[in-house]
Amino acid sequence: MYWRLLLLTSLVTVVSTVRLRSDQPTKDWWEHAGFYQIYPRSFKDSDQDGIGDLNGITEKLPYLKDIGMRGFWLSPMYKSPMADFGYDISDFRDIQPEYVTMDNFRRQVAEAKRLGLKVILDYVPNHSSDEHEWFLKSAQRVAGYEDYYVWRDGKPNPDDPSKPLPPNNWLSGFRGSAWQWNDERKQFYYHLFTAKQPDLNFRNPKVVEEMKEILRFWLDLGVDGFRIDSVGCMFEVLPDENGDFPDEPLSGTTQDVEDFAYLEHIYTIDRPGNVEMVYEWRKLLENYRKEHGGDTRILMTESWSSLDIIKPYFRDIRGNEGAQMPFNFRLITELNATSTAYHFKNVIDSWMAIVDENHTANWVLGNHDRSRVGTRFGERRIDGMAMVELTLPGVSVTYQGDEIGMTDVDITWEQTVDPAGCNEGRENYAAKSRDPVRTPFQWDDSSLAGFTSGTNTWLPVGPNYLQVNVKVESSNPKSHLNIFKALMELRESDTFLYGDWRTIAFNEQVFVIVRDLPSSSTYITVVNLGNSVQIINGSQLVKYIPKALSYAIVDGLSSHNIGDSVNTGSIKLQPYEAFVLEAKRPADRMVRAVICDRWLNF
Ligand code: GLC
Ligand code: MG
Repeated sequence: MYWRLLLLTSLVTVVSTVRLRSDQPTKDWWEHAGFYQIYPRSFKDSDQDGIGDLNGITEKLPYLKDIGMRGFWLSPMYKSPMADFGYDISDFRDIQPEYVTMDNFRRQVAEAKRLGLKVILDYVPNHSSDEHEWFLKSAQRVAGYEDYYVWRDGKPNPDDPSKPLPPNNWLSGFRGSAWQWNDERKQFYYHLFTAKQPDLNFRNPKVVEEMKEILRFWLDLGVDGFRIDSVGCMFEVLPDENGDFPDEPLSGTTQDVEDFAYLEHIYTIDRPGNVEMVYEWRKLLENYRKEHGGDTRILMTESWSSLDIIKPYFRDIRGNEGAQMPFNFRLITELNATSTAYHFKNVIDSWMAIVDENHTANWVLGNHDRSRVGTRFGERRIDGMAMVELTLPGVSVTYQGDEIGMTDVDITWEQTVDPAGCNEGRENYAAKSRDPVRTPFQWDDSSLAGFTSGTNTWLPVGPNYLQVNVKVESSNPKSHLNIFKALMELRESDTFLYGDWRTIAFNEQVFVIVRDLPSSSTYITVVNLGNSVQIINGSQLVKYIPKALSYAIVDGLSSHNIGDSVNTGSIKLQPYEAFVLEAKRPADRMVRAVICDRWLNF
């Protein structure tokens, strides 16, 4: 590996120019933002009905500011029969009465603007509610609305001619056939999610135009961008000349014929058309800005697919720009409590490989669909995971409650309301239900965690709320919340905004991130992922490193204090200990740090 050393040393010499802050390329507001995801039903109840609402959110916006957020994205607050808790929208232009009124929303946007917070809305183009006016009209074949949804004739049923069979074998993500019989129209309609969420037909130009109008409607109300729900599901395969859709092949991964994983979704997910639609929406946002001025409006896209599918959501080879933030879910899907430092390095580096110099990385550690960070990685790793997320370059996205270390709450079958859980039945609901991550936000140690002053809540409050809440954690300097806040502050410094990055797997157990900027301090995030003591030599991470480093941030159970110094040659980590170290650069040594690549046995 000698040549690597030579190559790296020469590269380092070439790039060792001193750059001052004024030389740094300016960043657009979102490029270094911290975003917060609010799940409206569970954030803060202002009217004692046990359900979160818009005024509750507005009241708590200063909290978002206080923890260093630049903006927030709101899960749906639109009018909805709540079959999928707001992801089944019956009016894309109105507010759910439980969350109160359009005026409350206007006030929220105004208050966010006053505080300097950007507002991103959830945009759900793939489907509407079956109670949406379009669907009611489509079911009645009202002229102009016939093709707003994906309708098909059934297949003849030899056993019972009065009960046609579904057109093909496609499955719903929430279990069972994706086809629902509609007695009025005497046809089946396609629904990837619940039967109360019929898929809109994006092959119909009228639908495309209607959905664009909805973007304009909310832009006019002052929102700063959209998170696009289920972006990879909008276009299904083109039907054959008889109008039939082909069956999907069996995946071979499960014998459960009703489970979504039973099929390989080659005709329904990640089809051509989805990405192109995002390019059109991006153009719409750019044009809107040209006409109306203001800051950049942004798009975030929700796709859980592989990196080759995600990459074109940034941009295609012809230069069409898509979403500024195709969500990076890799920290959720690829890593867990058993992952080694090599896995961490691999997952992070492979994502960075799809982010070119004109685009920005983003890191999502949790959301309303997946088990919480503290449960996935174990509570002892909560601070370490925040350090990983917040010291990597680019944008961070934090799901409400993860900053205080909320964990999944056990929900009984009787308490279960999420259709993903309900449809699995009493025996299996727990494996699929998303209720455990959607419980009320824990504000304080008063009854019902300060979420509501009413007497009940729509999902139970987590039993750990007496310790895990904003009020109690605010007064403890070593709490998850205060460590999170310190990290959010640190990432505003030049090294994190403009610096190079490098990940290092020191060994199986110790994962390291180095951030470096010649004109500023070097920072080294060190996370002990395992349960044994580790001692590492800092000069094996970064060459020409000072003999002593200082602790910039330490995890809550660490015995070190911020500002303490540590001998670079022997950095000791207790089980699960994590910290961010600072290497102050002597004024005469403004060279780029030479980062040692331990992973390649360099
Ligand atoms: C997305 C949402 C999820 C919802 C689904 C259907 O995956 O994040 O909560 O159930 O889309 O809209
Ligand atoms: Mg309420």
